[in-house]
Amino acid sequence: MIGIKVPKNNADKIRRVLLNHNIIKLDMKIKRVEDFVYIPLINTPNKELLEELNVYEVNIVDTEFEIHIKGPKSLKDYLKDKIDPELIEEIKKSFDIIGEIVILEIPEEFDEYKYIIGEAALKFTKRKAVYRKTSKIKGIIRTRELEHLAGEDNSVTIHREFGNRLKLDVKKVYFSPRLATERRRLSQQVIDKEIIVDMFTGIGPFSISIAKEHTVKIYAIDINPDAYKYLKENIKLNKPEGTVIPLLGDVKEVLKGLNIKSDRIIMNLPGTAWSFLDIAIKSLKSGGVLHYYEFTSEFQIPIDKIIETAYPRKVEVINCRKVKSKSPGIWHMGIDARIY
Ligand SMILES: C[S@@+](CC[C@H](N)C(=O)[O-])C[C@H]1O[C@@H](n2cnc3c(N)ncnc32)[C@H](O)[C@@H]1O
Repeated sequence: MIGIKVPKNNADKIRRVLLNHNIIKLDMKIKRVEDFVYIPLINTPNKELLEELNVYEVNIVDTEFEIHIKGPKSLKDYLKDKIDPELIEEIKKSFDIIGEIVILEIPEEFDEYKYIIGEAALKFTKRKAVYRKTSKIKGIIRTRELEHLAGEDNSVTIHREFGNRLKLDVKKVYFSPRLATERRRLSQQVIDKEIIVDMFTGIGPFSISIAKEHTVKIYAIDINPDAYKYLKENIKLNKPEGTVIPLLGDVKEVLKGLNIKSDRIIMNLPGTAWSFLDIAIKSLKSGGVLHYYEFTSEFQIPIDKIIETAYPRKVEVINCRKVKSKSPGIWHMGIDARIY
């Protein structure tokens, strides 16, 4: 059976990443051999996940695993005979694990099963709290309403991502664990001594990931006072090499006041980032890099917006990618562009 061989001292971190990707075969037992741990997998990790895990020196292996014989171990087992297996598959796709908190989506027509599902998710993930999404992500601060289903009703947690600790309140700030690979990818492009603007910082996952690895100066801006509060805590928690300067306010005002020219700008506000393109490009040095995100169906749509706004400056598109799916046919797209 397919599995992943990982060094013992990083096994827990790796298990959490794999759990976030729903790729662990939970009905088989993890095994330990000398200084390594073998985790059974449902299938071979895709290229992005492998890149994300490669920092830990992992190997994909074909090996034997024992079956879990005691008690139910998968969400399916927990909910067996109680809920339609197709619904369980749907719920599994929507699972997000943020630190000690599980957030899931339950279609309204299955409302009567919400507490059973919540308890099952709590037992199955061994986390401390389970919440259900009751609205879409909305408003300027990009948060959603959550309903408590199981475990303790405490929405503050610390999420671990590539060795970084990110404290947050899932009810008061935006955070997506699904962007971990994107943050790592971006951080790997940064060069020491850069001046960077993280225009929509949130609790700081991009800024902290970069500043942990590079001696840079990052202006980290957000309009949400709660995000700003956790950003400051996260800077203290992670003691980054680089300097992260937390700034509270509307990025348009803050940038005006700063009057700086930067080497790199991060624009992770995919719904409305287009309306900030002009101020972003104005504050980018010639040869500086823009990391622009947009919910769209085609790469060319955001690329055209960047080219139009930058005109007469030249634009070199360095990379385009689908970061994650938003809805059928619509993607959270990432465009990296150098502006001359
Ligand atoms: C999609 S979240 C991204 C947060 C963070 N970059 C991350 O990846 O977790 C967008 C953030 O932009 C902030 N925001 C929205 N409009 C803003 C504005 N005009 N000025 C500054 N921040 C803003 C929101 O409060 C929110 O935290």
